[in-house]
Amino acid sequence: MIPLNIVVLAAGKGTRMYSDMPKVLHKLAGKPLAQHVIDCSNQLAPEKICIVYGHGGELVPSVLSASNAIFAKQEPQLGTGHAVQQAMPLVADASQTLILYGDVPLIQAETLIKMRKAGNGLTILTVEFANPTGYGRIVRNSSGQVVSIVEEKDATIEQRKIREVNTGIMLVDTGSLRNWLSKLGNSNSQGEYYLTDIVAMAVAEGVEIHTVNPTHEWEIHGINNKSQLAALERTWQLVEANHLMAHGVTLADPARIDVRGSLHCGRDVEIDIGCIFEGEVRLGDNVKVGANSIIRNSTVSSGTQIAPYSHIDSAVVGENCQIGPYARLRPGSKLHDDVHVGNFVEIKNSEIGHASKANHLSYIGDTTVGKRVNVGAGTITCNYDGANKHRTVIGDDVFIGSDTQLVAPVTVNNGSTIGAGSTITRDTPEGELSLSRSKQISIAGWKRPVKQVKK
Ligand code: UD1
Ligand code: CA
Repeated sequence: MIPLNIVVLAAGKGTRMYSDMPKVLHKLAGKPLAQHVIDCSNQLAPEKICIVYGHGGELVPSVLSASNAIFAKQEPQLGTGHAVQQAMPLVADASQTLILYGDVPLIQAETLIKMRKAGNGLTILTVEFANPTGYGRIVRNSSGQVVSIVEEKDATIEQRKIREVNTGIMLVDTGSLRNWLSKLGNSNSQGEYYLTDIVAMAVAEGVEIHTVNPTHEWEIHGINNKSQLAALERTWQLVEANHLMAHGVTLADPARIDVRGSLHCGRDVEIDIGCIFEGEVRLGDNVKVGANSIIRNSTVSSGTQIAPYSHIDSAVVGENCQIGPYARLRPGSKLHDDVHVGNFVEIKNSEIGHASKANHLSYIGDTTVGKRVNVGAGTITCNYDGANKHRTVIGDDVFIGSDTQLVAPVTVNNGSTIGAGSTITRDTPEGELSLSRSKQISIAGWKRPVKQVKK
């Protein structure tokens, strides 16, 4: 197939977003609008993706990324035809150019591939709307061939009745495009250089015009304001939810899940309401995720149950673990199988061995915990001395009494028992009881202070 270049128009200001951030950088499903377009574009393996930017200055090129992306600045913005012109010096003639929009984020590769297969000439992505208001209309002759696109503001009353509209997305031979763009004028109601005017030029040259429809109507929805952004977010989340359910995932409510990245699930996964998945998340078979949990860039293995309100970030969780409610696994947490992490337990940059438990109110940071360890309620690893972080090492079969402080660097050797309420600053001997507590005393005849009455 002839090489492909993709031009993404992203220069518009987005006045109706009422934001200091350029419109195309606002996020849908956790990703900038235009980044969706770039990622979709890359599925077609184009030679180059040229992003035409303007408003927001250099923020657009600094935020958007792709190895094959190049940027062209359009200033001032004189219309869609003028915008595409800015990209022309960067693309070679012996190619096709596909024109996409940075504020139409959900275009799918499947639809674009259909356009590529439509044939040579000029291919326009069109759609029939019950209410076509605001869009350019596709004008066809009596034999049904496309003759032009007319903008609503320039259309006759008859033309405004046409319900087939221009989505703006076009695929065209690059050499011809260059030639047509150079002939564009701006004598129209908006005084803009319309990209759509190339259609009549192509027709005049006898070039074949093809039209293709998107697989889903939501693919061509553009974003102009926060309401449309929120509506398209919900549309997309429902697409994600349906996709998960189609693969056997049980969702308590498909309207109350947010996937901001990619979520891969095994069989018989259950997800309760209000959960957010960010980045790359993998859930093994039979994993259950409780309500309002947030899981990001993590792997949770088969049979593990996550109780409500747990936060898991950049962690690896083994099989048949019990996490939460209100557990927090921070980056670098690695839990082996059968581990229990209970409420208000925070784990960071630590490895927890097979069948070990920390069920209540603990901080475990920069620590290696062995197998079958019991970490008592309120145990804290004191990993930070105010300047540097130090490691705590806990062996196998250790029992740590409640409210213990382990002052790192320190090693609690295999089989150690730590008495409740201890502050452990030195390594503990294997198999022995260590404790650091003052002896309990009772003072006979001691009286509680009494509140003084003010005169
Ligand atoms: C355009 C089409 C119209 C189509 C509609 C679909 C033209 C003349 N009209 O109209 O037929 O039905 O899209 O939504 O093409 N942009 C730039 N630089 C510019 C102007 C626009 O980058 O100088 C970008 C905008 O940021 C936006 C996109 O191009 O993402 C479309 O521009 P807009 O002015 O909104 O076009 P419409 O009037 O909606
Ligand atoms: Ca406009």
